[in-house]
Amino acid sequence: MLVLGIESSCDETGIALYDTEQGLLAHALHSQIEMHSEYGGVVPELASRDHIRRALPLIQKVLNDAKLALSDIDGIAYTQGPGLSGALLVGTCIAESLAFTLNVPTIGVHHLEGHLLAPLLEENPPQFPFVALLVSGGHTQLMKVTSIGEYELLGDTLDDAAGEAFDKTAKLLGLDYPGGPAVSKLATQGRKGRFKLPRPMINSGDLNFSFSGLKTAVLTLANQHDSDLQTKADIAYEFQEAVTEILTVKCMSALRETRLDNLIVSGGVGANKRLREQLNFATKRKLCHVHYPRLEFCTDNGAMIAFAGAMRLKALQGNKLNHSFTVRPRWDLAELQKPQ
Ligand code: KG4
Ligand code: ZN
Repeated sequence: MLVLGIESSCDETGIALYDTEQGLLAHALHSQIEMHSEYGGVVPELASRDHIRRALPLIQKVLNDAKLALSDIDGIAYTQGPGLSGALLVGTCIAESLAFTLNVPTIGVHHLEGHLLAPLLEENPPQFPFVALLVSGGHTQLMKVTSIGEYELLGDTLDDAAGEAFDKTAKLLGLDYPGGPAVSKLATQGRKGRFKLPRPMINSGDLNFSFSGLKTAVLTLANQHDSDLQTKADIAYEFQEAVTEILTVKCMSALRETRLDNLIVSGGVGANKRLREQLNFATKRKLCHVHYPRLEFCTDNGAMIAFAGAMRLKALQGNKLNHSFTVRPRWDLAELQKPQ
């Protein structure tokens, strides 16, 4: 079954073709980061207009790359939510209209389910069940994943998401949007030991997180010292150490508590090099395994939506052919169920 995937929930137009027999056949992405950077964040109206501009040419591109035609498509998966409603409507509208003309089924995919399953696109994917750490701009969650759609929440952030903490710290340090890669880059010039930031909730005894105190501690540090580049780099270094250490400790606790030995990491912060180093080291020591998406599939992309949609379309009986639709700008992952 050949599935076209369309992601348009925020500031990236991602398109991909996934075949349930042959795997990922083609994918393409247009990032709007440059367009939004002068505003310091995503401007929803500009995002929607850009998705309109990009989506169809990118669909044509993936078809050309895979040497396939529109008529080869057996189903269309699109991000139905959560996200910016105007942006979601662009992808949804294109998906449903195309499916209507091709007379193929559609599936509205939960954006976070896409992120969650992205590591399964790689070689030697783990078998269910496994523990998943979802670390993005809006989420920091630990989950026990038993099968597609069976997600048990083990821990969550009580305030800011890890990616949000990176973004806010970047802003405090006068770095560009998006903050995660910028903080991480600056941290490579930072020195160990000059500053010590707290590790909130690291010993809380549960699997929850809290990152807002860390951001305040960064603000205090920044106010107490000169804003020269070396100081900023030293703060960025210690901030990254704090976040990645907290995430690593909680992941290891989740593996211990669930008695599972496979961890998957997904979402934008999963691209962080230092986080990967720490998780690789900690899991190896406990004879566990950690799986990541390739770097380009940590952040938003069409491949994860095509894949999650294909898994669900394959499992569904009596596919949806009524192309009326809604988007779900707010949508709790806990509402998802196993496909039946
Ligand atoms: O998953 P994602 O693309 O978007 C959603 O939030 O759904 O994640 C974006 C987040 C941003 O907060 C960004 O700053 C962070 O992921 N991020 C990183 C890195 N790359 C992206 N954070 C730390 N280190 C990185 N290398
Ligand atoms: Zn995302």
